[in-house]
Amino acid sequence: TQPITTTELKKRKQQKQPVAVLTAYDYPTAKIVDAAGVDVILVGDSLGMVVLGYESTVPVTMEDMLHHAKAVTRAAKRALVVVDMPFLSYHGSLDDAVKNAGRLMQEGLAKAVKLEGGAELAPLVQRLTQAGIPVMGHIGLTPQSVHQLGGYKVQGKDREQAQKLLTDAQALADAGAFAIVLECVPQEVAQMVTDRIEIPTIGIGAGAGCDGQVLVLHDILQFASSLSPKFVKQYASIGSMIEQAVAQYVNEVRTRAFPADEHVFHASEETIAQLYG
Ligand code: KIV
Ligand code: NA
Repeated sequence: TQPITTTELKKRKQQKQPVAVLTAYDYPTAKIVDAAGVDVILVGDSLGMVVLGYESTVPVTMEDMLHHAKAVTRAAKRALVVVDMPFLSYHGSLDDAVKNAGRLMQEGLAKAVKLEGGAELAPLVQRLTQAGIPVMGHIGLTPQSVHQLGGYKVQGKDREQAQKLLTDAQALADAGAFAIVLECVPQEVAQMVTDRIEIPTIGIGAGAGCDGQVLVLHDILQFASSLSPKFVKQYASIGSMIEQAVAQYVNEVRTRAFPADEHVFHASEETIAQLYG
């Protein structure tokens, strides 16, 4: 099977074929997600919450992203791996931002990076794409700005905000972004943005009109994820399966039901006869 490219994703929009995006953060989950046919694996900075136990994505560092990107890119054979640039790694000089994005590509083996923000990032997006680093935008609810936004709320609800979303999306597309995540935006507004821009929109809590959808792996699997916002659909309950299995193991160790004879190595008859001699 052919690996997915950014060109392929843009083609999907023209062909009206939805793009399936999901996060993964480590080797085993990325391997499974890739085998299941996901088009784009996002090493999201949501890893701060779902695998590192932070309360937001703000504490996540470049080193954290690199560590997880390396594991995921070793596993992905078909899916395009996009890695989030973490908090403050692209808000200093353009040179520093290019350097950080470059590390995600060279050390993390990312195929593209994702940035949160609108038109103000256009010069950076242009620099990155000129340097050969494909960029995915991310507008609407941008979790790295949660303290500025005053919480995780739906964005783009009034006409003015909706217009700003379109302006931002257009600026990112013009600067060379290959796709844009729309997070927590009313379906009708996301549809309008999707209709007006040339590159695919990938929605999360942005309705059925987007060119693709993205969700967080641990949310859809109920894998020790405490979050279940309205836009998440739960496809499995991995957390309770793991807890049940582990509780059974603990119980069998305590009752000596484990290990059974099938899990045991035996010495030869001769050795056994001499063991206590
Ligand atoms: O970090 C993340 O998982 C994301 C997606 C939810 C879009 O940015
Ligand atoms: Na993110």
